[in-house]
Amino acid sequence: MVAPEVVPLVKVGGLADVVGALSKSLCERGHDVRIVLPKYASLRGVEDAVPLGSSPLIVNLGGHEAYAQVWEMPLPGSKAKCYLLEHNFYFDGPEVYCGPTGNEADNGQRFTFLARAAIDLCYHLDWMPGVVHCHDWPTGLLPVYLNTTEIDRPMGRAATVMTLHNMQHQGYFPRETIHFAGLPESTFRSDSIEAFGQINMLKGGIYHSSKITTVSPTYAQEIQGSGGGCGLQHLLQYRAADLIGVINGIDETEWDPAHDPHLPRTYTASDLTGKAASKAALQVAFGLNSDASKPLFTVVSRLVDQKGLDLLVHAGDRLMQTMEIQVAVLGTGDPALESAFKALADRYPGRFAAYIGFDNQLAHLCAAGADFLLMPSRFEPCGLSQMYAMKYGTPPIVRATGGLVDSVEQYVEGTGMGTGFRFDAPTPQAFYDTIGWACATYYDRPKEYAQLQANGMAADFTWGQSADTYESVYAWAIKAREAAFTASKVQ
Ligand code: ADP
Ligand code: GLC
Repeated sequence: MVAPEVVPLVKVGGLADVVGALSKSLCERGHDVRIVLPKYASLRGVEDAVPLGSSPLIVNLGGHEAYAQVWEMPLPGSKAKCYLLEHNFYFDGPEVYCGPTGNEADNGQRFTFLARAAIDLCYHLDWMPGVVHCHDWPTGLLPVYLNTTEIDRPMGRAATVMTLHNMQHQGYFPRETIHFAGLPESTFRSDSIEAFGQINMLKGGIYHSSKITTVSPTYAQEIQGSGGGCGLQHLLQYRAADLIGVINGIDETEWDPAHDPHLPRTYTASDLTGKAASKAALQVAFGLNSDASKPLFTVVSRLVDQKGLDLLVHAGDRLMQTMEIQVAVLGTGDPALESAFKALADRYPGRFAAYIGFDNQLAHLCAAGADFLLMPSRFEPCGLSQMYAMKYGTPPIVRATGGLVDSVEQYVEGTGMGTGFRFDAPTPQAFYDTIGWACATYYDRPKEYAQLQANGMAADFTWGQSADTYESVYAWAIKAREAAFTASKVQ
């Protein structure tokens, strides 16, 4: 696994949960999983990390060598090994997607370094993986290296799987990045890594990997169209036979209300008393009125355009003025959204609250203590927050897009069937109406609301089936790589 984030070491969003949980699950199935990631400043004093040997890793970039100190440690809670790459100039800063200089433009070099270092590390360890599993644009150059500079070397035999967690971020950098990387000039063409006169790392990864996965079947379809493909839809159509959508699972050792140390009291589907205790604690933590009877809606999200939370901002006043509800927002990101939520909190004290920041313990408390989760995403490759919420008996209200379609079953009024509420139009009105529907269900059809909770808690969101599918994808990728060598078809 090569990735920019992994739980529990460093997390910006769900990609980190997936790399951590999938690696764990694969190890439990007997695979030898090793994860390569940068050693960010936040990992400086990380427990259990020991230097790998006395000499640094030599990273072979274009015309020059760079060095990384490699630290080795087990992935906590698993047999997977993590290799942390220490490099003061590239990684020793507080941000994942921005270098120590604070300049995002450095990302071209930083993540080229990650891709190249992961390959050189395998030689350094004398350990050749069957498959290199790459995650998102920061790892996009790795399959390009394996198909070009590595093609006649041992690592060139490794198959690659590229997982697309989010098509919106692709990693555009100046053409000179290929010289820095030491990639041949011939890669700078539109059927490789060139796009609009620059390099596009994600495009390179998609073009050159043996197989491609994305994180839900619906998103796999969406990205082949102009809406979801973010400009790469034609390439994805071209590679459609090698593309599969595999829904993410959740790590139930971390997310399970029956064993969650972050809650005041644990609970199960047969006794929700602990959930009521979480609601009371959540109200205190957010400064909401202590009131068990009002439905409490929560948001746990990065505050970015993708998440559609401007719909909540626009519907906010009307919601608070016409419905007997409470809202607790946990998130950080876009300053305009942050201040819009703070302003709503100022206008409706005790009823609307916003905690601006990243706090894993509060995220668990929100999943447990709320009565509904709001997730009006414009697009959502998979989404994990809605699965955590369902597991905690908190029906989600989601826009019908991507993985939200594949994981949330629409409530059927009058029967109690379903696990949540879906709406189609990305408009404040549609969102408002759906929240109204949920609110009416809570007050007027409590038995059906309870049935929705029970359905979500009983659903299977474990990694089991998805890990099975990844095993098949790896086998499929290895076969394709071998066949390409036999037929000498590798480009
Ligand atoms: P994305 O990866 O697009 O952000 P996901 O739903 O897949 O969306 O994953 C989001 C993950 O990040 C979840 O584990 C969620 O609990 C967590 N998360 C998001 N915002 C925060 C926050 N402010 N504090 C703590 N956890 C957060
Ligand atoms: C991305 C997507 C999210 C997905 C996560 C893990 O961050 O935005 O939908 O759940 O990756 O795959």
